[in-house]
Amino acid sequence: MTPIPDYWRWFPEARFGMFIHWGPYSQYGRGEQVLFREHLNQKGYAENACRWNPGNFDATKWAGVAKNGGMKYAVLTTRHHDGFCLWNSKVTDYTAASQAAKRDFVKEYIEAFRDAGLRIGLYYSLADWRIPAYWEGPEYDPDGWEIFRDSVHAQVRELLTNYGPIDVFWFDGAWPHSPLEWKSRELVEMMRAIQPHILINNRLGKPHEHELAQQKESADGGAGAGESAELGDFGTPEHHITADPNRLWESCQVSTWRLWGYTIGERWRPADYLLDMLIEAATKGGNLLMNVGPTPDGELPAEFIRRMEKIGEWLRVHGEMIYDSEPGEVCEFITYGRQMRRGNNLYLIIRFWDGRDTMTLAGLETNVLKATLMTTGAELEFEQSADYVTMKGLPAQPPTDLFPVIKLECSGPPKPRNWAAKRLWSGDPRRMTPWAAERGTSIFADGKSRR
Ligand code: GLC
Repeated sequence: MTPIPDYWRWFPEARFGMFIHWGPYSQYGRGEQVLFREHLNQKGYAENACRWNPGNFDATKWAGVAKNGGMKYAVLTTRHHDGFCLWNSKVTDYTAASQAAKRDFVKEYIEAFRDAGLRIGLYYSLADWRIPAYWEGPEYDPDGWEIFRDSVHAQVRELLTNYGPIDVFWFDGAWPHSPLEWKSRELVEMMRAIQPHILINNRLGKPHEHELAQQKESADGGAGAGESAELGDFGTPEHHITADPNRLWESCQVSTWRLWGYTIGERWRPADYLLDMLIEAATKGGNLLMNVGPTPDGELPAEFIRRMEKIGEWLRVHGEMIYDSEPGEVCEFITYGRQMRRGNNLYLIIRFWDGRDTMTLAGLETNVLKATLMTTGAELEFEQSADYVTMKGLPAQPPTDLFPVIKLECSGPPKPRNWAAKRLWSGDPRRMTPWAAERGTSIFADGKSRR
């Protein structure tokens, strides 16, 4: 990856952010895309949206939950694909400020989260399902498209002009139009002129095949999410955790089963599952943006708050290996859990606790100077030989119902033995030959040849 400027350092250091999908759709309790998926009557939906007045929205409470949960930033849907704006836009009156609520929720959010010391992200959907020209596109409705696209650019300008520094801008809904059609390059230039340090995601449109010849872009951006291979400062793998080798990245994930907006009766993923996603993202070198869909009245669901409390408590003890960690799997450990690296330290994140008083790590080359069970703070005795580090004196009961962590402080950056650098099914298989040959070379029990 090319080195990043200092003013972006905060992003990989932060590792953990809160994604908030909130808008008039939350009134239906069936996710953020209810208008489209249920092919609802557009007029009826718009009337409901204009009546939306979430009396219990208190941005300070949301910020408290995020902060207490160990999150360092947040991204709020300022407008989703239904086109309703949560801020006081002058481009339209289809906004929380002009309609029943008479409030600028984006302003309240930014002020409260900034006060709590969190970084600010704004999600903005390029798509607006209300507008025929959005569906027709420039080919079939060139005039309508231009008016629509200009309104999009004007709204992005508003969001970056009226609320002080914004740390992240999170586009979505570029499909089915290309960066050329959205004028994404010009959009990005305008944004950088207003806020030079902002981080912009990659969902700025996927080029059409016929446009590719004229550009450097390649076609392999994510189709559905309208991901651009060239534009954008960070990648946005959605519902999966896959490293982007070329730029910063952030996996966005739901804390429930599938939907982003508030959904009555949705299943919640357990706290250990959510925490494991964070650890997986960090160990692969990326961030986790974990979603919550607040209620129509403006509250974070209790299930979410409980999970954030547990994760936050865990992070207060173990956070040093999440924030600003380096991509981690050093040697063989995948069946036990995960590894994280930071400087000379190797962290073993243990998924299951089998009650034995020793644990052996195989394949670490670097000398261990000190071993600590971070979860309790207890220093552990250990023995190290060429291939093994055996830690002793582990408690019979798991010290946390999330993941216990052992920290190994090493004499240098942790490195694997040659055989352990790759996982099974990868690397040169012949590195294992000397190991097998220790027993002998034949198929007989004693390894000896019978000839
Ligand atoms: C998908 C969903 C959209 C959601 C987004 C978040 O694109 O369709 O509703 O806002 O993911 O990444």
